[in-house]
Amino acid sequence: MSKRVLTTESGAPVADNQNSATAGVGGPLLLQDQHLLEKLARFNRERIPERVVHARGSGAYGYFEVTDDVTGFTYADFLNTVGKRTEVFLRFSTVADNLGGADAVRDPRGFALKFYTEDGNYDLVGNNTPVFFIKDPIKFPDFIHSQKRDPFTGKQEPDNVWDFWAHAPEATHQITWLMGDRGIPASYRHMNGYGSHTYQWTNAEGEAFFVKYHFKTNQGIRSLSSEQGAEIAGKDPNSHQTDLLQAIERGVNPSWTLYVQIMPAAEAADYRFNPFDLTKVWPHKDYPLQRVGRLVLDRNPDNVFAEVEQAAFSPNNFVPGIGPSPDKMLQGRLFAYADAHRYRLGVNHTQLAVNAPKATTAQNYGRDGLMASNAQGRAAKNYEPNSYDGPAETGRPLSAPLAVNGHTGTHEAPLHTKDDHFFQAGELYRLMSAEERSRLVANIAGGLAQVSRDDVIEKNLAHFHAADPEYGKRVEEAVRALRED
Ligand code: HEM
Repeated sequence: MSKRVLTTESGAPVADNQNSATAGVGGPLLLQDQHLLEKLARFNRERIPERVVHARGSGAYGYFEVTDDVTGFTYADFLNTVGKRTEVFLRFSTVADNLGGADAVRDPRGFALKFYTEDGNYDLVGNNTPVFFIKDPIKFPDFIHSQKRDPFTGKQEPDNVWDFWAHAPEATHQITWLMGDRGIPASYRHMNGYGSHTYQWTNAEGEAFFVKYHFKTNQGIRSLSSEQGAEIAGKDPNSHQTDLLQAIERGVNPSWTLYVQIMPAAEAADYRFNPFDLTKVWPHKDYPLQRVGRLVLDRNPDNVFAEVEQAAFSPNNFVPGIGPSPDKMLQGRLFAYADAHRYRLGVNHTQLAVNAPKATTAQNYGRDGLMASNAQGRAAKNYEPNSYDGPAETGRPLSAPLAVNGHTGTHEAPLHTKDDHFFQAGELYRLMSAEERSRLVANIAGGLAQVSRDDVIEKNLAHFHAADPEYGKRVEEAVRALRED
């Protein structure tokens, strides 16, 4: 078999890929050895900054198919016909560890979905948990610092993790979730995905609804105990990646059913929980799940770096008919992601194949910048309005307007009648079976007992007591028993 010719990056043939050129046999290298210089220089530049969170992940392509009519609630084009299919890319991730960490760890999982719709890309950047640790974006960098490596010890420190939580009573609900049975998914296929935040849908008549997204796994929920997780993470750090890759290679395509909870906008103000508080769920008896469609993953990316590492999702990428709610956390995220991409991937990251629209084309007057491709606007005018045939605005609002009132200021999110930091955490605890409660208590105590300061332990215990007296008592006893050992 005759092989294709190896070339330099400019396409010139390479004569020798085994021996670098030297001045005489055994002499020093020659600067004129272009192939060697280029090879070493490119190698030095292979890495880009890893994501500041969710560094470690796996991705796959597939499609979303509408199974139920939701046109009464949104005029989003990709949801407007039963049977309509839209191509998607989904990146799963762990949150806290670096790129070289392990998959089978106790940590939330990212569930970042890009719908390549005919109205542009819609990014729904969620997690496998319906709630989150905090509800104001101003706390996010501190929260993440406390969960990642300590600047002095270079490793994750229970002192930092629990000290942050001691000062964040609103995290009690998410901690109860994370330390419970679903805290270590068996694989990316065996967990649900949630939009977590409340979003806004607008129908063709301009009526607004608030929605929460739930992607329920059709593979069934499967999780690992702390002991199983530790064993698998040690033996095969890539366990989730292997599972996803091999399932799709075998044609066992994972799927999820999308349901939404829908709240008419007028009900938001008087709902007993603040519907825009990310640390809370909406009980299903208040707003039942309504089926929307089916998400299927059926194609592995050809190249992990190009398509998974360079994938860029932004909660600010909406399509007409879908928009943000006033959730402060979501609002913070509307800025943070595209800013992260401009740093990590550059201003033209939207031109990379995985990030570019597939069912339409981007047409605007943004130009140039580092790594701009030739196609960008070509000879067309680069200003607007213009007297030529350049792209123009539609004049149609993308989503219904949100009413606002009051004074500017650094306000806490408003509390509704049933809102406090602990009620829903207690409800989750009380839902658990006796065995689940025992595992939850053991998982929390295992971490909390490692904290060096009694006052930090006490503050955390107070949160579990406030959620449910039995919960608090059991965690306290378990921590005491471990510390007396
Ligand atoms: C104000 C709060 C938050 C801020 C400032 C924030 C910021 C970030 C940043 C900067 C990244 C890295 C992006 C990149 O380099 O590509 C990221 C990734 C991610 N975040 Fe957040 N985040 C926040 C809260 C959340 C919440 C509440 C969720 C889920 C509901 C979430 C889900 C994700 C996911 C899934 C990724 C990985 C996306 C991917 O696969 O590329 N984040 N976040």
